Amino acid sequence: MAAFIRAGALDVSREILSQSEVLDRNRHQANQKTTIVSLVALLLLLSSPVFLEGGKRATGILVQTAPRAITLTTNNWQVTTDLLTRNGKDIAFASYSPLWKFQRKLVHSALSMFGEGAELLESIICQEAASLCKTLTLEHDTPLDIAAEMTRAVTNVVCSLCFNSSYRRGDSEFEAMLQYSQGIVDTVAKESLVDIFPWLQVFPSKDLALLKKCVEKRDQLLQQQFTEHKETFTDDSVLDLMSSLLRAKLNMENNNSGLLPGMELTDDHLLMTVADIFGAGVETTTTVLKWSVLYLLHYPEVQQKIQEELDQTVGFDRYPQLSDRQHMPYLEATIREVLRIRPVSPLLIPHEALTDTRIGEYDIPKGARVVINLWSLHHDEKEWDKPGEFNPGRFLDEQGNKLYSPSPSYLPFGAGIRVCMGEVLAKMELFLFLAWSLQRFTFSVPEGETLPAPEGKFGVVLQAPKFKVKATLRKAWQGLEIDQ
Ligand code: HEM
Repeated sequence: MAAFIRAGALDVSREILSQSEVLDRNRHQANQKTTIVSLVALLLLLSSPVFLEGGKRATGILVQTAPRAITLTTNNWQVTTDLLTRNGKDIAFASYSPLWKFQRKLVHSALSMFGEGAELLESIICQEAASLCKTLTLEHDTPLDIAAEMTRAVTNVVCSLCFNSSYRRGDSEFEAMLQYSQGIVDTVAKESLVDIFPWLQVFPSKDLALLKKCVEKRDQLLQQQFTEHKETFTDDSVLDLMSSLLRAKLNMENNNSGLLPGMELTDDHLLMTVADIFGAGVETTTTVLKWSVLYLLHYPEVQQKIQEELDQTVGFDRYPQLSDRQHMPYLEATIREVLRIRPVSPLLIPHEALTDTRIGEYDIPKGARVVINLWSLHHDEKEWDKPGEFNPGRFLDEQGNKLYSPSPSYLPFGAGIRVCMGEVLAKMELFLFLAWSLQRFTFSVPEGETLPAPEGKFGVVLQAPKFKVKATLRKAWQGLEIDQ
């Protein structure tokens, strides 16, 4: 479907290629990447999606609910996301529909079962934070791949939510899960040629073969959980997302669901919804944690300020809690700055105009793809002072005591009807995992290793590079046990 604003596409494509440090460096490093990125820019131009830049305007479009004109579609990444989601039976890559609304509602009520912001979720996260700190204590002062440990911690939170289960370190199923997740992150939505020319599927493709293998592995694990949940299901054993979806399906079959006639919540919908929460819940949060540690290595003074704030607010006799969050603006500001400078999803997920509409002075025809250039919103020099610099202070008032929003050009979780479903949970995790680790440890670059460059790899999320850290136990904690 041809859209209206051609120049916009060119300008912004050019901007993505030139303004972005991350993509730009990739361009210099890998010629093949250059071709693909440039080609994508050209192809996007030919199919004329609409790119949005201005912060207020983008927010306006995303929250525009009256005609509900703009919603998500998977047009751009159709082949890989169809494989991942059994043709859009999930939430994130599904088109807007009454069934999609129903799936979102089900997930919302499952999340509220855990009482977002309330004790149950907090205690699950703190348990994982304690386990993370135990591992860091065992491995302290030796070079450690902290990403794997953080992934396990975040995975276990999401496993508790989805399946009421968790993994121990070294568990073979967990290792398999790490592998297939990485394969999916590496291959989905990276604007591979097969997404642009679906007919290329007839030719052998390494990426597509890897994705198929990873999805197969994921589906085996999901199916196993599904079978176990079905076998043990009773109405009063609804302790996780999977059983809560099962209950909704049973209610629906008993005509008790609030679904419109003709709509069907199939096993595939149920499995893909869980897979979605799993995928969206693990990769995003882990990625932000990795970027956070990477920036703390680059800015030891920021790390020290967070530790001073922790020492004053929490002290050494107890562990950080969610209620400390309101008294720790500097840590909160640091998290906001990480989400600004390295947005997890630099182009969000493509949206689509459901009806003919207008964005400012531009007419947007029904069916046009609307790509929100979050990278450019977060790095706009008109909105941000020295946007390339990591500076948590920009989110604090002059006294440095209160959080402050310097610009509307900031949408790390999107906005409107397709806003991230896990924003509250993610913010809880980011705060607690960072607070627990920094209360006890100081992160530094291990001897013999170099400072990791803040260069991302574009895929379904903007991935941080691999790096090792040394976690040194702070003086006050030496010789103490960690329990929760
Ligand atoms: C720091 C962590 C996270 C970030 C930065 C993040 C960011 C985002 C963004 C930018 C979108 C797309 C919005 C759009 O295209 O308009 C999104 C969608 C989504 N996120 Fe997150 N997310 C995070 C964590 C989570 C978690 C923990 C969950 C699940 C518990 C989750 C579930 C979802 C879902 C289901 C969608 C699709 C919503 C829809 O299409 O209706 N996210 N997220």
